[in-house]
This record gives sequence, structure tokens and C-alpha cells, in this order.
Amino acid sequence: MTSFRSTNSLLFFSFILVLWLSWPASGNSSTATSAPEDYIACLLDNSHPDHPISPAIFTPDNSSFTSVLRAYIRNNRFNTSATRKPFLIVTALHVSHIQASIVCARRHNMQMKIRSGGHDYEGVSYVAEVPFFILDMFNLRTIDIDIEKETAWVQTGATLGEVYYRIAEKSKVHGYPAGVCPTVGVGGHISGAGYGNLMRKYGLTVDNIEDATMVDVNGRLLDRKAMGEDLFWAISGGGGSSFGVVLSYKIKLVRVPEKVTVFRVTRSPEQNASYIGSRWQQVADKIDRDLFIRFIMDVVNNTQTGKKTARATFHGLFLGDADRLFSVLNTSFPELALKRSEVNETSWVQSVLFWTNYPIGTSEEVLLSRTPPVNSLKRKSDYVKKPISKEGLEWIWDRMAELEAPLALTFNPYGGRMAEIRSTAKPFPHRAGNLAKIQYAVNWDEQGTEAANYYIGLTRKLHMYMTRFVSANPREAFYNYKDLDLGINHNGRESYYEGRTYGIKYFVGNFNRLVEIKTRVDPDNFFRNEQSIPTLPHKK
Ligand SMILES: Cc1cc2nc3c(=O)[nH]c(=O)nc-3n(C[C@H](O)[C@H](O)[C@H](O)COP(=O)(O)OP(=O)(O)OC[C@H]3O[C@@H](n4cnc5c(N)ncnc54)[C@H](O)[C@@H]3O)c2cc1C
Ligand SMILES: *[C@@H]1O[C@H](CO)[C@@H](O)[C@H](O)[C@H]1NC(C)=O
Ligand SMILES: *[C@@H]1O[C@H](CO)[C@@H](O)[C@H](O)[C@H]1NC(C)=O
Ligand SMILES: *[C@@H]1O[C@H](CO)[C@@H](O)[C@H](O)[C@H]1NC(C)=O
Ligand SMILES: *[C@@H]1O[C@H](CO)[C@@H](O)[C@H](O)[C@H]1NC(C)=O
Ligand SMILES: *[C@@H]1O[C@H](CO)[C@@H](O)[C@H](O)[C@H]1NC(C)=O
Ligand SMILES: *[C@@H]1O[C@H](CO)[C@@H](O)[C@H](O)[C@H]1NC(C)=O
Ligand SMILES: *[C@@H]1O[C@H](CO)[C@@H](O)[C@H](O)[C@H]1NC(C)=O
Repeated sequence: MTSFRSTNSLLFFSFILVLWLSWPASGNSSTATSAPEDYIACLLDNSHPDHPISPAIFTPDNSSFTSVLRAYIRNNRFNTSATRKPFLIVTALHVSHIQASIVCARRHNMQMKIRSGGHDYEGVSYVAEVPFFILDMFNLRTIDIDIEKETAWVQTGATLGEVYYRIAEKSKVHGYPAGVCPTVGVGGHISGAGYGNLMRKYGLTVDNIEDATMVDVNGRLLDRKAMGEDLFWAISGGGGSSFGVVLSYKIKLVRVPEKVTVFRVTRSPEQNASYIGSRWQQVADKIDRDLFIRFIMDVVNNTQTGKKTARATFHGLFLGDADRLFSVLNTSFPELALKRSEVNETSWVQSVLFWTNYPIGTSEEVLLSRTPPVNSLKRKSDYVKKPISKEGLEWIWDRMAELEAPLALTFNPYGGRMAEIRSTAKPFPHRAGNLAKIQYAVNWDEQGTEAANYYIGLTRKLHMYMTRFVSANPREAFYNYKDLDLGINHNGRESYYEGRTYGIKYFVGNFNRLVEIKTRVDPDNFFRNEQSIPTLPHKK
């Protein structure tokens, strides 16, 4: 109840603020970009007496500018002296700072980037080709849980680890179906759909939200009722940054058993890795929905021969105890030959730690850490619609060995709840008919563009090799696994056509509805980036 009331009073306050700011009725996008000083002057002019904005303003002259910028860089590829820096960072402390940032940016025609957890794989939240500033959300991270109602209001600057920690503090039998990396930010994760290892039982993160608050292009703070069902749909998987600044989501908690079972086992070629992998392709999306088994393909050095050898890893979460897990596996997937000594029974929140590679028993406080190790990385994605054969898997492992890099292909099984939800229910279209999503991953430590081009080139080659095993026309991709190889928008005259190229891959049949909504709520394309939803081309 308290959260509902505070949202209402926030809306009321915002209404007053909007009148008081009194910007021109429609921004002037034809104005040439003005100087940063003019923009800062506008922010200060519009600073609310009760919530001064100046402690939130960081220019390159402020001594902590670099540390603030770096605090949420999660890909070292964009942490170089050659990477363009923002002319300003606004670390919003209050909703009025978001409103002033938008209103002044429209007035002065500034490109704004919105950053929550900074985990965008292409750095889209903190890098740009043109002069830009960052609206940083990390201070706005309140989590307000109502365990009786099984809901929570979560501000977008919170991390997933904080959400999990706060839920576990209140209940041992509640969880939330979101990503497995605790430092991922709520803002990008939920607005871009979000998935985790509860997906087969409960669907996507956005299948478990009830409401949201966001600041629109006119500086208005809107909740679901005020923004309407179309816009709420759009920010439930279509990416927030094309539509506005999302301030919070109201999430729906889900029930988890007090005891869950986890495992992580590897199988070598001698242990029939490819046969077990091919059996996984037959069962993973059809097995009991309490069971989520991720299948990872990579190549390692054989310690005896020194030769490259295939490795299959099976990473499991079962929503039940070990006895029931084994009865499910004995019936549906005996080929895995899982042993009792290879599984651990534990609580749901400890399973979150286990999935992040912490040993069971680690203090849950680590979920609150905001300083993960950071290296350089590239990710891509694909969708598998029909099982890949044993020979197919062996052929893929051979190609991975040739590529001579620490590449990994991670298969996340679909089916279960995912296959029951209509493909138009949310912007995320990849539902029934999908066996699994693949993530391509490569990480490296070397600095510089030469190394980056080398490793990125390898992921592109592997992606090309995979063509015959995955979706086609369109070759689908997961929006939250941002991949600029799919196309870049320059937000000029060709914006709609550039946007279609990647938009159809990410959103398939839902792309057109996203464009219609975008054209209605942000006709001047203020909220834009390298892969934003474009507006419809102007009729000649
Ligand atoms: C280590 C790691 C693990 C991951 N694991 C998973 C996983 O298990 N499941 C999964 O689904 N995804 C996963 N992802 C992908 C992740 O969900 C996306 O990268 C997500 O967009 C990150 O959100 P963020 O707030 O941290 O990122 P940011 O870089 O801050 O933002 C990402 C995008 O969202 C926009 N945005 C951010 N906040 C807002 C806001 N408040 N309003 C409007 N727009 C906003 C940004 O402008 C940017 O375009 C993982 C990523 C990493 C790096
Ligand atoms: C926008 O700015 C340009 C250049 O300053 C000016 O000529 C034009 O009249 C302005 N348009 C509006 C609607 O304010
Ligand atoms: C950064 O510098 C500007 C200009 O000197 C100042 O207005 C602002 O308050 C400073 N920001 C912080 C966080 O100290
Ligand atoms: C970025 O680069 C600086 C300087 O090389 C380094 O200190 C820092 O650890 C790097 N990574 C991040 C995420 O800031
Ligand atoms: C591998 O599979 C073969 C038959 O396909 C079987 O005979 C053998 O026992 C299996 N090996 C292991 C380690 O499971
Ligand atoms: C594997 O072996 C190659 C040389 O054959 C070496 O360069 C590489 O570092 C090794 N990788 C690991 C993970 O040990
Ligand atoms: C599963 O199969 C194994 C080996 O065949 C057996 O030891 C175990 O008792 C079975 N478990 C269940 C729950 O059926
Ligand atoms: C599983 O539990 C056993 C004993 O309870 C423990 O020794 C082992 O380290 C645990 N495994 C993991 C991965 O935490």
C-alpha cells in the first residue's frame, strides 16, 4: 500500500514540476547542438529548490569524473583513451533530475545515453559516436518488497543481486525469474525482456511485471495507467531507451521450494559428450519444467595429450529435492548419467550464488557487491528451432577447435511456460517453436583494437559456421544480447530502414507495433541510440 501511495504522490509532484519547468511546447530538433555550458546552465536553472541538481553534475573538470564514468563500464573494450567520453554525467538523485535532463537536452538538442547497470554488451549506455551525456541511474535503487502481496517496487538503478538478496531476507520460498549475473542492472535487463534459469517454469522477467513508472519525452512521470497499455508493452521488452527513462518496475515474485537442487558436470568425448549433447537437444525443452539444464560447448587443452578437445558442460537448477530430480532424469535423460555426488541441495538464494560460480555456503552479502571483475568481451546470439544431431555437434566442436580461441556456445533451453505465452504478449517474440537460445561468448585481456578485431572476427566466423543449425528469415537474435553486427542506426534520413535491419531480428513480427508506438510517443526521435526503435519515415 505504501508504495502505491508514494507513486501517486510522486506523480502529483511531477505534475507541478512539469508546469514549473515550462519548456517550449515542442522541442526544437533543428537547432544546432549548443555548448555544454548552456546545457549545464539549463539544468541549474531548472534545479528544484528542495532537490538541487548540482551534486549530481559531473563534468570532465570534476576530480571524480573518471571514476564515476568507469564505475559502470562492464566491457573493457570501451575503456580506452580512444573511446569518446561524455561531456557530462548526471547521476540523478531525484526524479526531478531525470525530468530536467530530458527537458534541457531536448531544448539544447543533446544526445542522451541512459545507464543503469552498464552491462550492455556493446556499451550503448555509455559510448556514442556523437557528443553526448550520460544520465546515470545508480543512485536510484530503492527496493520495496510487499511479501504478503508477493510484489515489489524496484528502481532501475538496483542490481539483480540486490533484488535477490532483499527477497531472500524476507522469504525462503520466494524468488524472481531474472538473469543469473548479480551485477546486471534492473533498468536494461527488464526493459530488454530478461531471462534466467526459472524461465521454463515462470517465463521471462517481463512475464512477471505488473506496473512501471517512467519519465517520457515531455518530462512527465507516468505509471502504467497514465502511459497506457501500448507504452507499457513497449517497455516490457522493447528496450526502455527508445521510449523514455524507466524509473521503476513493479515486479511479481514467484514461489520457489525451500530446497532446490543444483549441479554442474562436464563430459569429455570419452564420456560420450556429443551423444549426451544430442540427447539434450531432444529433451531439454520438453522435460519437467522444474528442471532447467544449460548446455555449454567449448574446447579445452587435454592435460595428457596437450591437444584441443571438446567439452560439454551441463549446468542445472531443479525446483525440488535430489530424489525427485533423479526420478525425472532416470525417466527423461538417463544418458547424462548424473551421480548423487554431483548434485547439491540448497536454498534458492544459494542456487543464485552457485550459478554465478560461488561455492555453496558463500555469504549472501556478495550479491550486494557492485564491483565485478571486468574484461573485454563480445557476445552474439542465435535461436535453435530443431535438434542438432550428434554429428552436427561434433562438426561444431571441430570448427571451435580450429578457431583457436576461448569461445563458448551456451544453449539455454526453452519450452515449458515459454512455449505457452503468445509471441505478441510482449515485444520479445521467440516463444513456441524455439528449442533453445545460443549465446556466443569470447572474453580477452589484451588491450587495443587489434586484439578486439581478432576476437570479434572469431565470433563472426563461428556465427557463420552455425548458419545451417539455427533460425533463418529472419535469423533471430535476443535484444538483451546487444550485437552491433546486426546493424547500426545513424538516426538520419535512413533511420527507419536501418532500424528494420536489426529490429526484425530482435523483434520479428512485433517490430511494426514498436515502431508505431515509438512514432506516437517520441515523434522527433529524441530517445535514440545505435539500435533504438526508429520512427516511421515521414510521408513525402
Ligand atoms: C555478465 C552479464 C551477464 C548477463 N546475464 C544475463 C542473463 O542471465 N539474462 C539476460 O536476460 N541478460 C543477461 N545479460 C544481458 C543484460 O540483461 C543486458 O545487457 C541488460 O541490458 C543490462 O542492463 P543494465 O542496466 O546493466 O545495462 P545498461 O548498459 O545500463 O543498459 C542497457 C540498455 O538499456 C538502456 N537502459 C538502461 N537503464 C534504463 C532505464 N532506466 N530506462 C531506459 N533505458 C535504460 C540503456 O540505455 C542501454 O540501451 C548479461 C549481461 C552481462 C554483462
Ligand atoms: C528552431 O531553431 C531554429 C534555429 O535556431 C530557428 O530558426 C527555428 O525558428 C526554431 N524553431 C522553433 C519551432 O522554435
Ligand atoms: C562539478 O563541477 C561543477 C562546476 O564547477 C559544479 O557545479 C558541480 O557541483 C561539481 N559536481 C560535483 C558532484 O561536485
Ligand atoms: C579501465 O582502465 C583503467 C586504466 O587503464 C583501469 O584502471 C580500470 O581498472 C579499467 N577498468 C574499468 C572497469 O574501469
Ligand atoms: C558411450 O556410448 C556407448 C554406446 O553408444 C556405450 O557403450 C558406452 O558405455 C558409453 N560410455 C559412457 C562412458 O557412457
Ligand atoms: C592450450 O594450449 C595452447 C598451446 O597449445 C596454449 O597456447 C594455451 O594457452 C593453452 N590453454 C590453456 C587454457 O591452457
Ligand atoms: C535412478 O537410476 C539410478 C541408476 O540406475 C538408481 O541407482 C536410482 O535409484 C534411480 N533413482 C530413482 C529416483 O529412480
Ligand atoms: C556440495 O556439497 C558438498 C558437501 O555438502 C560440498 O563439499 C561441495 O563443495 C558442494 N559443492 C559446491 C559446488 O558447492
